[in-house]
Amino acid sequence: MKGLKDKVVVVTGGAGGIGSAICRRFTEAGAIVAVFDLNAQAASALVGEIETAGGRARDYSVDITDHEAVHAAVERVEQELGPIDVLVNNAGWDTGAFFLQTEKPFWDKVVAINLYGPLNMHHAVLRRMSERGHGRVVNISSDAGRVGSSMEAVYSFCKGGLIAFSKTMAREMARQQIPVNVVCPGPTATALLDNLAQGEKGERIKAGLVKAVPFGRMGQPEDIAGTVLFLASDDAAFITGQVISVSGGLTMVG
Ligand SMILES: NC(=O)c1ccc[n+]([C@@H]2O[C@H](COP(=O)([O-])OP(=O)(O)OC[C@H]3O[C@@H](n4cnc5c(N)ncnc54)[C@H](O)[C@@H]3O)[C@@H](O)[C@H]2O)c1
Repeated sequence: MKGLKDKVVVVTGGAGGIGSAICRRFTEAGAIVAVFDLNAQAASALVGEIETAGGRARDYSVDITDHEAVHAAVERVEQELGPIDVLVNNAGWDTGAFFLQTEKPFWDKVVAINLYGPLNMHHAVLRRMSERGHGRVVNISSDAGRVGSSMEAVYSFCKGGLIAFSKTMAREMARQQIPVNVVCPGPTATALLDNLAQGEKGERIKAGLVKAVPFGRMGQPEDIAGTVLFLASDDAAFITGQVISVSGGLTMVG
């Protein structure tokens, strides 16, 4: 894909399942990746692995729910790696429960990570991109945000909100030619999915999900990364405000 070499890319939740696949693919394409993650140990291990493979990356221990910390980390990236070219908002969190069985402290956590996290990141990074008139944003939402998902009510609320926010940012940033697009994974084999569906019941839920996927299998983190790179590349320069599901056909939205 065109135009990724030497680009500075921030990936939130970069040490997780889908995030680490995205980070690896960007560094393989010659980009320099800033791995933003709450899990400092996993982020540092990933950077070590990328460097051993000949890639360029640096880990930043940051909680995306913390507005001040996000602004400070973004400032550090620009000082250490250069102006940010691409922002991938990938960090997310959930655990499965029916809405009526949940309480406000749980909603607050889900909203803080899945909605306030991306808001903080856009606020810190897009001001800089906007001043420069250059940049790309790829937001990782979920098919849950397009069509809903039982036991993921508040998460769906956030992911649907992220889609609407992305379309609005795509409109607001169009004058500066900064594309903002969304990738929606379906069920993908990561810690987040394990967290949603645990034990014997979890295995039954996962088997049911696989059955519902026309391609007949669970997504792998590597399935998601290619679409993210495409949307960040020059090949996608005329695409903005779009939502793409990467879920083996599970969600076919017109
Ligand atoms: N796995 C799936 O089935 C699936 C489906 C649809 C959408 N998604 C979305 O894909 C994205 C990646 O999820 P994943 O499946 O790789 O999950 P994961 O749990 O493997 O990775 C999430 C990463 O985000 C980090 N993180 C969590 N809270 C953070 C915070 N406050 N600040 C910084 N980092 C934080 C975690 O430490 C972890 O490394 C998420 O946005 C998720 O909602 C996943």
